[in-house]
Amino acid sequence: MAIGVFDSGIGGLTVFRTIIKNFKDTDLYYLGDTARVPYGNKSKDTICRYSLECSNFLINNYQIDCLVIACNTASSFALDFLKSKLNIPVIGVVEPGAQLAAKFTENKKVGIIGTIGTIKSNSYYNAIKKIDNKIEIYQNQSPLLVPLVEEGRIEHEITRLAVKEYIAPLVEKGIDTLVLGCTHYPVLKNIIEKIYPNLKLVDSSEAIIPYIVSCLPTDKREEGKRLILTTDETEAFNALKHRLVGDIKLQKVDLKEII
Ligand code: DGL
Repeated sequence: MAIGVFDSGIGGLTVFRTIIKNFKDTDLYYLGDTARVPYGNKSKDTICRYSLECSNFLINNYQIDCLVIACNTASSFALDFLKSKLNIPVIGVVEPGAQLAAKFTENKKVGIIGTIGTIKSNSYYNAIKKIDNKIEIYQNQSPLLVPLVEEGRIEHEITRLAVKEYIAPLVEKGIDTLVLGCTHYPVLKNIIEKIYPNLKLVDSSEAIIPYIVSCLPTDKREEGKRLILTTDETEAFNALKHRLVGDIKLQKVDLKEII
C-alpha cells in the first residue's frame, strides 16, 4: 500500500510530516516540483498541466493507491481535473480545511490567507459557504510569507511584520478562526499564535488525515518505505526537509523518467 503526495516544492513537507506520523506502515512518496515552484502565481491551465505530470510520475513509478495534493494552489485549481484524469482516489487540502474552519468558528467569522492563486480562485470561500452559508469570510493574499519561510526566517522580525500586515485586517473584521491556506504557513504557527493568541488556526495537513484513512484499506506491514523526490536540488529544500522530517532519503528526478 502506498500514498503519493505532491507539492509545488518544499512547503508540502508540512503535510508529509503529518502523514508520516499517521501512516507508519504505509509506503510514502513525496514529490516536490522544486524546478517549477512557485505555483501560487501561475495560471489554472499551467497548474493543471504541472499537477497531472507530478501525479502521473508518482502513479507510474511508485504504484500509489491514493494521491494527496499537498499544495493549496494545486488543490484549488486542479483537484476536479485530476479526479477526471486519474483512476485512484485524489484528495486535496481545501475541502478538509474548510470543514475544520466551519467546525472551529464560534462567532461565524473566518479569515483565510493563501497565495494569490488560492485566494483569487475563491476555493476556500466557496467550500466554507457550501458547508454553512451564514459564515462571514474575509480573505487576504499573503505571498511574502512563502519566500520568508524558504529563507528560514521563521522567528525573524521581518516575518512578524509580514504576518501582522496580512492578518491584522482580518482580525479587525472580528474573525475567531484563520485558515492557513498555504503549505508554508503551518511553519509559522508559533509566531502567529504568539501575536494572535485568541485565533483558532486551521492547518489543512491535520484536517486531511481522516480523508486519507477513508480511502485506504488497513495495512499490516511493519514499517513503510519513505522517499522524497524533487525536480531540482535546492539548499532551501534541504534545510526545511531536515527541520520537518529529518533524514528521509532524497532523490532528484526528471519528470520524463517514467518507467
Ligand atoms: N505550495 C503552494 C501552496 O500551498 C505555495 C508555494 C507556491 O506558490 O508554489 O499554495
